[in-house]
Amino acid sequence: MVDQVKDEEIESFRKKVSSILHPGTLFGFSYTKPFGYSGDFFIIEKFYQGYVNPDEKCRKWDHFIHASGAVTAVVNRKTLAIDIFEKLNEKALGLRQDVMILGSGPVTETFEFLERNPDSPLVFEMLDLDKRAIAYAKNKNRKYLDRMTFHNANVIRFTPTRNFDLIWSAGLFDYFKGKHFVYLLKKYYEYLNEGGEMIIGNFNIENPSRRNMEILGDWFLYHRSAEELKGFATQAGIDESKIDVIQEPLGINLFLRVKK
Ligand SMILES: C[S@@+](CC[C@H](N)C(=O)[O-])C[C@H]1O[C@@H](n2cnc3c(N)ncnc32)[C@H](O)[C@@H]1O
Repeated sequence: MVDQVKDEEIESFRKKVSSILHPGTLFGFSYTKPFGYSGDFFIIEKFYQGYVNPDEKCRKWDHFIHASGAVTAVVNRKTLAIDIFEKLNEKALGLRQDVMILGSGPVTETFEFLERNPDSPLVFEMLDLDKRAIAYAKNKNRKYLDRMTFHNANVIRFTPTRNFDLIWSAGLFDYFKGKHFVYLLKKYYEYLNEGGEMIIGNFNIENPSRRNMEILGDWFLYHRSAEELKGFATQAGIDESKIDVIQEPLGINLFLRVKK
């Protein structure tokens, strides 16, 4: 239904559904942006939790958003992050491995990983611009703060003080223009250890829920193809043999993976 709405009809369509475009529904939370921007830690955590407002008027809209491809892909990418941490954990053979997460949000993937692997030698640095995200993530991960360092900083300005075996970022680079994407890729690639990898998520141009998110959630992202993502890595000066693109099971979220 929403897919058929033309650009010039967006405002009148939003008026028709205005009774649900308030922070009590997930679409409305995205639309009204109580934290000032789309894709804050709070809504992402609600996606992970499958939260549904018990109020009858809101419930069906929350079920609708959770059933969407985009939200399923967001939940899938958390599972993918945990799988990647698990592989690094196996490879580590008990030796310390440094992981950095750019745009770390609620830090739910790391929490779930550590719940399953409490003795893991993985050590994490988290970077997020929003101090409310940092406060939430610290409280959530309070059992594991001995192996987590939090930085309340902008990825563009932050300068790491060490190298990493893995740099992971999901839900961040698809807010950046191409030139900023390339700049950040080039910058953080310098902070990878030999044999390390950087994995960056980005919504695919094939996203069946794009229009729902844009119209009902006022949530706009740069959608990119695998070829475009590979092109960014080439522009960042990374050798072709070190570049590939992986995806979560739906293929709605792609991940540029570059190795050092
Ligand atoms: C969509 S959330 C993704 C959170 C987490 N990576 C996940 O997948 O669960 C994006 C996060 O990036 C943070 N963020 C946005 N722009 C940023 C920037 N320029 N520097 C650092 N963090 C940023 C936001 O505050 C938010 O917590």
